Amino acid sequence: MRELLSTTEIENFRARAAASAHPRELIIDLLRAIQEHHGWVPDEGVELTAEILGLSPLQVEEIATFYDKIFRQPVGRKVIHYCDSICCWATGGEQVAAHLQQKLGIAPGETTADGAFTLLPSCCLGVCGDAPAMMIGLKLYGRLTPEKIDAALEKEKD
Ligand code: FES
Repeated sequence: MRELLSTTEIENFRARAAASAHPRELIIDLLRAIQEHHGWVPDEGVELTAEILGLSPLQVEEIATFYDKIFRQPVGRKVIHYCDSICCWATGGEQVAAHLQQKLGIAPGETTADGAFTLLPSCCLGVCGDAPAMMIGLKLYGRLTPEKIDAALEKEKD
């Protein structure tokens, strides 16, 4: 199994937790660090987070499963979140979703055969003025058209 986190990072988080009045506030930082290092957050990542912060695994799991940008299952090298909230829906979000599915050959929740992309719907990405929008990894793409989607996919594939 791939390492969850480097020894240095673990020690850094232990120090931050010891210095914090509320170690619970480090849950997201720690889960994101594990995700960045490991690709996603397996059960062992939840348990490691709980152990470092002095919490129960359930307390960590509650947070891990609340946020849709924390992945509790394996994902592709990059995750595409397309927005399905109201502004994007009203400006062509359904066509964006359909184009992504057709272009990638996968349904929402699936990963391409080459492991490059996982496709997921998302609540509002916070860029309603640039609707319809999607996020690939941490990069936002707005005012999407089929041509812009194709260009983004080309640019983001490794
Ligand atoms: S509704 Fe899509 S970014 Fe806000």
